[in-house]
Amino acid sequence: MELNDPRSYHREELQTLGWELTVCNALSMPESPCLRVLKKKTSYGSLLLDFISNSGITPRHILEIGGGYGFLARDFLKDNPHLQVTLWDISPSLLKKQKDTLRGFQACVLEKDILDADPTTLAHFDLIIMNEMIGDLPTLTDLELTGNQAPNDGATTFFWEEAKRVISAYNLEIPSHPFNFNIGAILALETVLSSRVENIFISEHSCEATVPEEMKGLIFVSAPNHPEPILLKGHREFTIKFSHLEAVAQSFSYHIKRGPLADFIPLDMSDRLKVCLRASVPRTGEEEAIRQFVSDLYQYEYLLLTKGHGS
Ligand SMILES: C[S@@+](CC[C@H](N)C(=O)[O-])C[C@H]1O[C@@H](n2cnc3c(N)ncnc32)[C@H](O)[C@@H]1O
Repeated sequence: MELNDPRSYHREELQTLGWELTVCNALSMPESPCLRVLKKKTSYGSLLLDFISNSGITPRHILEIGGGYGFLARDFLKDNPHLQVTLWDISPSLLKKQKDTLRGFQACVLEKDILDADPTTLAHFDLIIMNEMIGDLPTLTDLELTGNQAPNDGATTFFWEEAKRVISAYNLEIPSHPFNFNIGAILALETVLSSRVENIFISEHSCEATVPEEMKGLIFVSAPNHPEPILLKGHREFTIKFSHLEAVAQSFSYHIKRGPLADFIPLDMSDRLKVCLRASVPRTGEEEAIRQFVSDLYQYEYLLLTKGHGS
């Protein structure tokens, strides 16, 4: 067993998200070819705020944890300048970019690690967003629950003890051994749920993605059901087992909406797009970007958690 903890990379090395092209960033440039394949050609933040509003949520005090370049927060504020938005991040260079992106808007940008947060400091927000960031939190790799695996360093021991606690507390199913366990994502969610905040939105690369029947043959996703590593510049992140997050949210009696990002970023499935998706290989760089983006809309899942009545 090992601890994969990319936080030192984010704190000390990261200068740019570079080729780690998030769905939010893919829709951030008006000239992006990805915008052309959407029913509503607008930014990720705008599509997400519409989805949240259409789900009956009217947020006022929003916390975005791990805001990257700050585009999502900027697009929320463009659509609704009355929102009060706070961003937490651990990367000094991304915090600087967030401040630049949000210049002229009412937003507060702070250096803070979600894994060090006290839930009481979250209670006054009415929406907390963790968009494509929980895969960057610590993962225990090759975890075995049987035998003597006691780690010999402090940080790994802490996460190992916490893994045993949450697996038992939330009755989490471990489908195979050894297993890569998203302990950081579960602890971050537990902290946010403990604050009893009204609404939580999470999205990330799922290891349990599905494609609707009518799209099979056009869109391919990977769904091994256990978290897998993704090699990125200077660090590794892990895909997320969303059923574990659901189990934790259920114990806190939150109402759960789960699905692929395509639920709120609907595709305009034109003949041209079908031809692009059916081709055995992409014919241009632009087609390659579109194919990757379309598959990400199903490979990435979201959870929209709302506080249950009486909880
Ligand atoms: C892959 S980027 C996603 C950025 C943005 N949300 C998006 O969708 O484009 C992950 C973000 O999470 C931040 N991050 C990583 N670990 C964190 C932690 N423990 N607490 C707060 N932010 C963190 C990173 O610095 C980065 O801004």
